[in-house]
Amino acid sequence: MNADFDIELKLLLEAVYLKYQHDFRHYALASLRRRMQQAMVRFECRTLSQLQDKVLHDPAVFPQMLRFFTVQVSEMFRDPAYFKALREHVVPVLRTYPSLKIWVAGCSNGEEVWSLAILLQEEELLERSIIYATDINPEALRTAEAGIYELDRIAQFSQNYRQAGGTASLSDYYSAAYNSAIFNQQLKRQIVFADHSLATDSVFSEVHLVSCRNVLIYFDRALQDRAIGLFHDALVHRGFLGIGPKESLRFSAHAHRFSEIPARQRIYQRI
Ligand SMILES: C[S@@+](CC[C@H](N)C(=O)[O-])C[C@H]1O[C@@H](n2cnc3c(N)ncnc32)[C@H](O)[C@@H]1O
Repeated sequence: MNADFDIELKLLLEAVYLKYQHDFRHYALASLRRRMQQAMVRFECRTLSQLQDKVLHDPAVFPQMLRFFTVQVSEMFRDPAYFKALREHVVPVLRTYPSLKIWVAGCSNGEEVWSLAILLQEEELLERSIIYATDINPEALRTAEAGIYELDRIAQFSQNYRQAGGTASLSDYYSAAYNSAIFNQQLKRQIVFADHSLATDSVFSEVHLVSCRNVLIYFDRALQDRAIGLFHDALVHRGFLGIGPKESLRFSAHAHRFSEIPARQRIYQRI
């Protein structure tokens, strides 16, 4: 990667922040570079400066650019062992609270939040829960709220669900129509979908569990610390934080404020 590209990237991120208040200035550089190269192909730009010109002057471009600034890969019951560990180690503690608040930060198209809603329903905890599902990508939030996924993804989702300790059949929770699986809309009665950025917004509620998986991996150390600090401030005493398998609190400035639970699934408890 040449030095000019990095100069132009810095300028582009600054321009996006000044114009749209979306702050990508502390995202991990290597993956940001790759995704900006893809964006240059998509928008037929020879340089990032040309792309910056479009981002600033063509109102249709920035909403589409969000697809390149963010990564939307997800699955229901992704990493089944994580959901199994939630069931076995976290649910028994959650059960002791008369009401629950849960925050799924970086919920993308909703696969993770619908999985949690199903898990809580099976544990008879959904009724007493409010789940905040947040992301910075409005298009992803709309998909998340709809709870409709392509039918050809369901085999993988079902396999994950079984491995995650599901007590029924995933097909109990959706109806198939054409090429889509439409999840039971009753499951979202306790979910609030909202725009929230871990880069620029602050804590909005006290919660018992934060699930923020495969999001920190796209941030640099400073932004990871900001986000983990928000989670710490949002969590009740002894509240839980679940992160992705490639993420860790080990090098965070907040590491000493959490202990990892024995399940070895990157689930931490606020000290
Ligand atoms: C790879 S997806 C993770 C989806 C899901 N949590 C999972 O593990 O399958 C990453 C998500 O983080 C969101 N994201 C990126 N930057 C963010 C920020 N500053 N604040 C909140 N969400 C952010 C992206 O829009 C994307 O939906």
